[in-house]
Amino acid sequence: MPEAPLDPIRLRELLTFYADAGVDEALAEEPINRFAEESARPAVRDAAPVMAEERAAKPGSSTGAPPIAARPAPVPMPPAAAIPDEAQAARAREIARQARTLDELKAILAEFDGCNLRFTAKNLVFADGNPEADLMLVGEAPGREEDLQGLPFVGRSGQLLDRMLAAIGRDRTTAYIANVIPWRPPGNRDPSPLETEICRPFIERHIELAAPKILVTLGNPSTKLLLNTQTGIMRLRGTWSVHKTQDGQEIPTMPTLHPAYLLRNPAHKKLAWRDLLAVKVRLRELSA
Ligand code: URA
Repeated sequence: MPEAPLDPIRLRELLTFYADAGVDEALAEEPINRFAEESARPAVRDAAPVMAEERAAKPGSSTGAPPIAARPAPVPMPPAAAIPDEAQAARAREIARQARTLDELKAILAEFDGCNLRFTAKNLVFADGNPEADLMLVGEAPGREEDLQGLPFVGRSGQLLDRMLAAIGRDRTTAYIANVIPWRPPGNRDPSPLETEICRPFIERHIELAAPKILVTLGNPSTKLLLNTQTGIMRLRGTWSVHKTQDGQEIPTMPTLHPAYLLRNPAHKKLAWRDLLAVKVRLRELSA
């Protein structure tokens, strides 16, 4: 029996619940188990024999072969990398090293099909700001606004980040901004450890090629990844560490609180402000 339509008030409550849970795309009425579909349908490489059988099954077919049961038409398979695995992480490590410039790295990422996140994202979010700047900031992953514009930190946390930069006399002409993950995870969920491992070689090469004098990691995930630590941001923030690149650079790194966290916990803004003042002093020393 078809379900009675929801009354408008309940419908509104339901939509609010979905929006709060991070569901912001309407895809279909019912969930579809794509993995089950995958095993049920023939891969493209099997398409030729299937099509021959289908031709043979048609009335009036010239092959004279007896008709056989109809099979579903072959559907082109999605790229092999829809499920993240260690092989894709190894591939990412190999191809990220091949980039000799930031433009090449961006082009390689734009072609890379080894991370499932790219298939749900609208745009690659590579970087914003001045790649020649002595200051580079790295966040976690793009959100909805960033995905739509293809630029990092352009939503609400980006506006706060701009104000944080202004507090030390910087803006996007004098700072360079990127994320560990260059594609928006659907519904802003946390990237999985494998997705992060697949993206790691790209952000590491990104930093290596940009070669800033100072790196600022924004929040827990980018701090843990780029400083190779399990220590939490509350302990690490405000103290200098070093990010080591594969080509031997040792970049002084200041972990600080993520602007999205500061929007939720404005009382902690003073901590981030202190961290950025330390960055300002260090930059001045380095350019003296
Ligand atoms: N949060 C991030 O970590 N990065 C962005 O680009 C936007 C929000």
